[in-house]
Amino acid sequence: MKSALLTYLSFCLIVFLNLRVQKSKSESIKNGAELYRDFCYRCHGFNGEGQSDLIPPLKSSDYLLNNIDLSIAGLKYGLKGEIIVNGKSYNSYMAYQGLENDEIADIMNYILNEWGNNSEEFITSARVDKVEKSILK
Ligand code: HEC
Repeated sequence: MKSALLTYLSFCLIVFLNLRVQKSKSESIKNGAELYRDFCYRCHGFNGEGQSDLIPPLKSSDYLLNNIDLSIAGLKYGLKGEIIVNGKSYNSYMAYQGLENDEIADIMNYILNEWGNNSEEFITSARVDKVEKSILK
């Protein structure tokens, strides 16, 4: 009886500690907003609108919203060659921005949920770890 209680208490403790270690989605988005201002806005704009024919938008981007792993791969390894965003072709280059995987996760959570973008997904650093370069053509 005593040991059952102890087992139960240690189970509660483990659950509690795990909840504390895992960053919440809103914390991740907040962090991502700051990183966006440092690393992305000069090209993609404060409102995620992109720039003319050269830089694709992030706001309402079907590429971003429908290809989450491809977007992660672009940030992790750089993105080059033709892509289609909202029916428009872009054929340019985005260098790897020097971000760690947990920073990429935070920025993804921000851009997936800003400017009217809305995603159910919660991107974690573990997911970014798993994305391989080979998925980019
Ligand atoms: C020097 C300019 C530049 C910077 C800085 C930059 N990008 Fe890009 N980004 C581009 C270009 C150009 C493309 C299109 C590449 C191509 O044509 O293959 C692109 C494509 C993308 C795409 C996929 C297409 C889309 O519009 O959905 C995403 C997502 C993206 N960038 C997010 C980011 C994020 C997040 C950051 C900050 C960490 C960032 N970019 C920083 C220039 C930039």
